[in-house]
Amino acid sequence: MKAITVEPKKPGTVRFEDIPEPDVREGSVLVEAIAAAVCGTDVEIAEGKYGWAPPGKTRLVLGHESLGRVIDPGPNSSFKKGDLVSGIVRRPDPVPCPNCAVGEADMCRNGQYTERGIKEIHGFMSERWRIEPEYAVKVDPALGILGVLLEPTTVIIKALEQVLAVGQRAFWEPKTVLVTGAGPIGLLAAGVASLGGYEVHVLDRVESGLKPDLVRALGATYHSGSVLDLGFEPDVIVECTGVGSVIGDSVQKVGAGGVVCLTGVGAGGIASRAVADVAAAAVLKNNVIVGSVNANKRHWYKANDRLGRLDRKWLSRLITRYEKPENFKYALERKPDDIKVVIQFGEV
Ligand code: BGC
Repeated sequence: MKAITVEPKKPGTVRFEDIPEPDVREGSVLVEAIAAAVCGTDVEIAEGKYGWAPPGKTRLVLGHESLGRVIDPGPNSSFKKGDLVSGIVRRPDPVPCPNCAVGEADMCRNGQYTERGIKEIHGFMSERWRIEPEYAVKVDPALGILGVLLEPTTVIIKALEQVLAVGQRAFWEPKTVLVTGAGPIGLLAAGVASLGGYEVHVLDRVESGLKPDLVRALGATYHSGSVLDLGFEPDVIVECTGVGSVIGDSVQKVGAGGVVCLTGVGAGGIASRAVADVAAAAVLKNNVIVGSVNANKRHWYKANDRLGRLDRKWLSRLITRYEKPENFKYALERKPDDIKVVIQFGEV
């Protein structure tokens, strides 16, 4: 079968090539791929900046945002042939650490977790893939191809859960949520937050086009420019850019008792602002800065529900490009008008 593979940490090594059929040891459920979405992490792996091949191998099958159809449910799963499924990304570490031991691999403490398509296990950008029944999540069939947006939604569900959890340390009734960055994660964050009845604001660099339109279509408010220029102090900031200056501005701008949740993985620092000044703003306003990565089964369950409640037309506008697997090079390129690029392996 064909798969999109890469030699991690070596830029320019992505190939669409023949590999053996998935091994039954990878899981008893056999799935035919419908689609795999591309995210910043895939691009970073393709650029040689991230990613690990399975032990003893040099190449990794890419892809962690999946949608497929069960072709063989195997002997002991509750799935039926034809079910739409998506694969949970992370597997617990083998020790296991206390969090992995209780089913919270997303909170793994020793870093020995593995992740499909990212860290030591093959991903989902292959014509067929196998999965353990407990890591396959049934996708609402009404979502169709939009089910490929499930994984990024799980990341947001976890982030928002973190925000509410840390907010409970004191009396707190958050009303305003600012999302920084109107990429797929930011827009999904805005969509999910709007379902929660919050006053949602989204800030991005662009001044016109699809991103502002999508934000307004949610009934949310779009801003461009600096976080510091906003005319209000958000109770919650979901930071989805990973850009040092935006993070610094967010910590400064968030309201007293507020929470800044960092979801973007950036690099480099802030040359223009002293760390102690950023910290002082947090201290004097009792703010919390919380990092959030990945998601566990509970978040996958909730994400399915929230995705099903978002307007389908709105969701479909998030996917700005469909590419064939053989055109992986274009799929992994970031174009200015892209929001979410989906590699389509088959029809729903
Ligand atoms: C994925 C997460 C993963 C993280 C770090 C993200 O792109 O969505 O599932 O934990 O990368 O590897």
